[in-house]
This record gives sequence, C-alpha cells and structure tokens, in this order.
Amino acid sequence: MNPPQYPVDQTEASGARRLRGVDGVEANSRLTAALGLVLFVLLAGEGVTILRIRPLLSEHVAIGALLLPPAVLKMATTGYRMAAYYRRIPAYRLKGPPPVVLRVLGPFVVVLTAEVLASGVALLYAGPQWHRTLLLLHKAGFIVWLAAMSIHVLGHLMETYHHAWRDWVTARRWKLSGGGVRRALVIASIALGALLALLLTPRIGVAVSTH
Ligand code: HEM
Ligand code: HEM
Repeated sequence: MNPPQYPVDQTEASGARRLRGVDGVEANSRLTAALGLVLFVLLAGEGVTILRIRPLLSEHVAIGALLLPPAVLKMATTGYRMAAYYRRIPAYRLKGPPPVVLRVLGPFVVVLTAEVLASGVALLYAGPQWHRTLLLLHKAGFIVWLAAMSIHVLGHLMETYHHAWRDWVTARRWKLSGGGVRRALVIASIALGALLALLLTPRIGVAVSTH
C-alpha cells in the first residue's frame, strides 16, 4: 500500500482515498501545520514584548490571550493523530510516528505551554501575595519552554512550509474535502483569542495596582 500522494493523486478515486483514510491524515497535517504557522507568528510577536515587558505589557497579555485558543486546538489536532496512531488506524500507522526526538518532546511542549499560559493568566487574577511565585513560575517555565519549542519548531519547519497553506489556495490540485471547515476552525480560534484578549487585557490595571 503506497503512502498517499499530494497534490491529490487524480488516478485514485476520491472514494478509495477516503476509504483508505489517507485524506484524513493529510487533512490533519494541514490543520496542524496551519495552526503551527499562526502560533509561529504570534509567538514571534510575544517574544518582542518580552524584550520590553514593562512598556509592552498590554501587548504581551493581548498576544498571549490571542495564541491561547490556537495552541489548545493544535494540542487537539496532534492529540487526535497520536490517538489514531495508537488505535492502529491504518493510514496513521502508514504515516508513522514523528521522529523520535520530536515524539519524546511532544508531551513536554504541551505541558510547558500550558504552564506558561496558565501562570500568565494566574498573574492577572491571583492576589498580591502570589505575584512573586507566579512570576517566577512564568519566567522559569518560559526558559525551559523556549528550549523545547526551539527544537520543536526547527523539527517541524519543513512540514509547516509544505502543509500550512494547502487549504488556503484555490488550485484544484490541492483541493481536499473539509477545507472550508479547517479554515473556519483556524479563523474561529483566532477570533476566540481576540475575545480573550479583550477580556484579559483590562485585568493588567487591577493586577499591577495590587502588587
Ligand atoms: C504553543 C505552541 C505549540 C504546541 C503546544 C505544539 C504542540 C505539538 C505537538 C504535541 C505535536 C505532536 C508531536 C510532534 O509531532 O512533535 C506537534 C506537531 C507539530 N507541530 Fe507543534 N506545537 C506548537 C507550536 C508549533 C509551531 C510554532 C509550529 C510551526 C513552526 C509547529 C508545527 C508542528 C508540525 C508541522 C507538527 C507535525 C504535524 C503533523 O502531525 O503532521 N508547532 N505540535
Ligand atoms: C495569556 C497569556 C499571558 C499572560 C496573561 C501573561 C502575563 C504576564 C505578566 C502580567 C507579566 C509581567 C509580570 C510582572 O513583571 O509583573 C509577564 C511577564 C512575562 N511573560 Fe507573560 N503572559 C502570558 C503569556 C506569555 C507567553 C506565551 C510567554 C512566552 C512564550 C510569556 C513570557 C513571559 C516572560 C518571559 C515574562 C517576564 C518578562 C520580564 O520580566 O523580563 N508570557 N507575563
């Protein structure tokens, strides 16, 4: 059984591809890579705010909130792939697991991202007596997170380059069913992030004035 060929192999009927589940694997890769690209851009912006955290604290919190839903959705799409692999779904077994370093690093990337985001949000809601501890957790988590994320991004840069844009072009050769839903999911996650940013940014005034 040959691995799936994209652009879409027109010789194989779409029904057969769907039966073999290869479209599902490609669809999952496209959504994950598109979210990866969104996160890459937002994390770069977050990095700039860290260099001048005091004057750019509002931007820092706004971008942090903006990237929260896309990060959660990305954990879901990669979690789906992992579960499909362990459930021995043939098409996902055919794609195989990520390279071993990225495979081992995956859970750390998830836990560290959750730690940095959760400690950041907690900084805005917790009382002044927690500020120092939460800030230490936030900064220390960030340092370990940065090391893990650098390897993650370097390891997935080529896949992102090859997959992230495929649902966003009109050429028939890249057309794959469900493209509209995947685009809507990416846009909805960013829109939800913008809403969160509107909710969280005003908390800075409260958090900063109490500590
Ligand atoms: C909040 C930040 C991020 C989290 C929590 C996250 C999480 C994950 C996890 C758990 C996996 C599965 C394990 C693996 O294959 O390594 C994964 C895969 C992947 N990540 Fe990330 N990632 C993040 C940021 C990024 C960024 C910035 C990029 C883009 C450069 C990216 C691109 C990818 C790609 C292309 C895959 C493999 C997709 C596939 O299954 O075909 N990720 N990510
Ligand atoms: C919703 C998400 C986030 C919120 C609410 C948040 C909140 C904050 C706050 C309030 C501070 C300043 C604390 C102070 O100095 O009193 C801070 C500092 C910091 N944040 Fe975040 N943050 C978020 C996301 C992130 C992300 C995603 C990263 C990195 C990937 C990050 C990295 C840092 C670092 C490194 C500092 C310390 C900067 C310094 O003092 O030099 N934060 N964050």
